[in-house]
Amino acid sequence: MKFASALVAALMLSLSAGPAYAAGDAAKGKKQFSRCKSCHTVKEGKNRIGPSLFGIVDRAAASAPKYKYSAGLKAAGKKGLKWDEENLKKYLKNPTAFLKEYLDVKKVKNKMKNKFRKESLRDNIIAYLKTVK
Ligand code: HEC
Repeated sequence: MKFASALVAALMLSLSAGPAYAAGDAAKGKKQFSRCKSCHTVKEGKNRIGPSLFGIVDRAAASAPKYKYSAGLKAAGKKGLKWDEENLKKYLKNPTAFLKEYLDVKKVKNKMKNKFRKESLRDNIIAYLKTVK
């Protein structure tokens, strides 16, 4: 009985949390950006191992000044890839798979190997990234 009511409570919680997750929580995302900090800054023009993510949402792919992108990401940028929320969300889940699909190729050169599978984490980080511009 206890288990059943706990289950119902959990279900109700997850239902009410649903839309909030889909929209992403920028405050949480700011903290979760610690996952990206070893390679990225959100400062304009400040590249590290990866390019600066200042203004990344709706920015053209492979367009950070002075950053040496991989051949794959450069090709995607040339093809017109723009980092809208949907593309960012797919890229962060699996950058290599995303670029292969976008470029319609079997092999691709890509420098970001990290995969972020957790959907709420991606939503939160994207919500945060929208605020850095
Ligand atoms: C271990 C280092 C590393 C980590 C950690 C990392 N990245 Fe990256 N990221 C890179 C590199 C390197 C590139 C350049 C990829 C290329 O040229 O193919 C990149 C590229 C990107 C791009 C494309 C930028 C552009 O200008 O087109 C986005 C967006 C991005 N990363 C977001 C993130 C986010 C958000 C996180 C954290 C959730 C993250 N990255 C974590 C190394 C990393």
